[in-house]
Amino acid sequence: MKRRHALRLLSTTALAAVGCKTLAQSRQEPSDEIGVEYIIESLERDFSNDIEGSLHEIALSKGLFYGSSTKSPALKKDLDFSRQVVHECGVIVPEGCLKWKALRPSANAFDFSRADFTYEFANKNNLLMRGHTLVWHKNLPNWVHETVDANNAEQIYHQHITAVAKRFSGKIHSWDVVNEAVTFRNGSSNYLRDSIWLDKLGPSYIETAFHLTRESDSNALLVYNDNGMDHAGYRYDKKREAVLNLLSDLKAKGAPIDALGIQGHLCFRDLEFDFSKLSQFLSDVSSLGIKILITELDVTDSKLFPNPDNRDKTVAAIYEDYLSCVLDEAAVIGLTTWGLSDRYTWLSEKRPRKDGLPVRPLPLDSELRPKLARNAIARALKNAPSR
Ligand code: XIL
Repeated sequence: MKRRHALRLLSTTALAAVGCKTLAQSRQEPSDEIGVEYIIESLERDFSNDIEGSLHEIALSKGLFYGSSTKSPALKKDLDFSRQVVHECGVIVPEGCLKWKALRPSANAFDFSRADFTYEFANKNNLLMRGHTLVWHKNLPNWVHETVDANNAEQIYHQHITAVAKRFSGKIHSWDVVNEAVTFRNGSSNYLRDSIWLDKLGPSYIETAFHLTRESDSNALLVYNDNGMDHAGYRYDKKREAVLNLLSDLKAKGAPIDALGIQGHLCFRDLEFDFSKLSQFLSDVSSLGIKILITELDVTDSKLFPNPDNRDKTVAAIYEDYLSCVLDEAAVIGLTTWGLSDRYTWLSEKRPRKDGLPVRPLPLDSELRPKLARNAIARALKNAPSR
């Protein structure tokens, strides 16, 4: 890691002064101390800066892209928010409306209304659109679980991927073709996560999805997207290894895969990083001839101390340190955060704070004002080597 100043001799009083005592007590493992040190160190950092331009403009000056996920109701109804999206982003990615649950009211029907709206919004405002996601073990409508069996799985699977990829052919910057297919646990299916598709179609469902997407859209970058590759520790080591094996296997089989999407949901629970391992992983991926996108970046702050000013500093530090590491790898072509403003973040439901305070994981606050996290992202982009 480029910057981590170890502050090992912290008194209980010092921890209590910044609100860390409860945190230190509530976390049991020995490595927790590192998290506390990191927090203390982050409070001393200066995230003020006057870098000019929107995040996308700064990214673009380095040959990168910046964008964010969006939900169609917010884009449609919240004009202040949608203006900020257009201002800061070069790319958007619909958070839900390209998933099966939104697109597939029944086995015989497609509902493209929300996805079409999002595409029109992007097109009208000169934004690129990413596609998320054609294949995932989650967010499937009930009829899939009730209907799909060994006899019809192939037909339903092929029909869905082909229809959706064709519908948006030529309009999508990059497709998350398969999402979260790997687990860090080595079970009966060699690090492949349980899913209806694995169960009914076998492990080849992954390469099949890449072939079908390429046949339906020859322009989009085809991405394998996954989580849990960012931090230090056993589960992350195993996950990186398993993802690397999957990518190299897909390449060896001739599957048309262009990029790895690293979700980048950075969580305080596992705050520790090992940036040399992360860099090595990125370089190994790059050696396979595969590009890298950071696709769903956000920083969970639900276990950080309540004071929002302090919390914002730690969140900003995590953004800057993480991005400084990943943007050093030339194979990384851009990033999208999972939301732009704290006004709309999946983490308010997924990781709410026990004290009831609103979470603050994103570049803009809930009033759409830039936070230190935005400065940290801007600075990491500004310091990134040009592509
Ligand atoms: C989440 C959305 O943000 C939520 O609004 C939705 O309810 C559930 O899915 N990894 C992914 C994303 O790949 O699709 C998930 O998005 C967040 C975790």
